[in-house]
Amino acid sequence: EYPEFVKIVEVGPRDGLQNEKEIVPTEVKIQLIDMLSGTGLPVIEATSFVSSKWVPQMADHTDVLRGIQRAPHVQYPVLTPNMQGFQDAVAAGATEVAVFGSASESFSKKNINCSIDESMLRFEEVISAAKERQIPVRGYVSCALGCPHEGHIEPSKVAEVAKRLYDMGCYEISLGDTIGIGNPGSMFKMLQSVMKEVPTSALAVHCHDTYGQALPNILTALQMGVCVVDSAVAGLGGCPYAQGSSGNVSTEDVLYMLHGMGIETGVNLAKVIEVGDFICSALCRKTNSRVAQASSRT
Ligand code: HMG
Ligand code: MG
Repeated sequence: EYPEFVKIVEVGPRDGLQNEKEIVPTEVKIQLIDMLSGTGLPVIEATSFVSSKWVPQMADHTDVLRGIQRAPHVQYPVLTPNMQGFQDAVAAGATEVAVFGSASESFSKKNINCSIDESMLRFEEVISAAKERQIPVRGYVSCALGCPHEGHIEPSKVAEVAKRLYDMGCYEISLGDTIGIGNPGSMFKMLQSVMKEVPTSALAVHCHDTYGQALPNILTALQMGVCVVDSAVAGLGGCPYAQGSSGNVSTEDVLYMLHGMGIETGVNLAKVIEVGDFICSALCRKTNSRVAQASSRT
């Protein structure tokens, strides 16, 4: 029994671009987001309010957020790892934010320079400040199916971190296969464990396609009732603090699968393919989307 409707969370402008070596011009980022806003996508993660020393590519976060044309009914969340990021995001006009924790201690240290427990204290501050302003907060759990440093991650650890974020007030928990190492077997076990602690309706999956397992992993999650999927146009991306991580699963490929199964998304695939063409020519690179490759041949 599959869900009838799946919400797609487009993370290309953030997760997709954060790993690009060449700094992408702010105008290109703005045009990318504006084009995505015209495709029917309900959520477009726009940028991150992180340290520009750590992630130079996101240093123009304020200009990006101020420069986009917000479409009605579209959410534009931004990443905020701490109070400084949250305050800067609010000053730039953010109306939704996301905190990003990890199920792996060593990844937490490498990515946000603190332990899991310390990160939870920071997120608690962000979430309570967000509550005062009625700003919704999304929560990520990275390394949900494996860590670049520790390897295997226990599903119970993922469940514990997911529950902490949910109990603190995150409305949705995105389970990140940061290095794309999972498979339908490990996805099943991890979700089974998380679903004991967090309602399925509050869960999202965030798959990277490093090992070519993203679509089967997403299908597994759908079979288990998950109805929110993160993806990136043209399969852009990868995390700068996860060596060897490649792009997110491409939005085009996810849409092709879902629509083929009769699952509605409200997103126009042909328009997303056009946005993919735009960003790939702007970045002088080939698309990672198999669907976009196949349709350009016909
Ligand atoms: P830190 O160095 O530990 O921070 O960084 P600090 O509080 O000790 O402050 C040190 C300096 O950083 C100070 O400046 C602060 O002002 C500044 P100084 O006095 O030295 O000039 N600072 C900031 N500047 C801008 N924005 C901020 C901020 N906070 C402090 N928010 C921090 C801690 C979290 C900031 C840092 O580690 C960082 O920016 N990390 C980047 C992490 C990141 O963006 N990773 C990629 C996204 S996560 C991901 O991709 C995974 C995901 O997709 C899911 C998945 O795939 O699984 C979400
Ligand atoms: Mg990611």
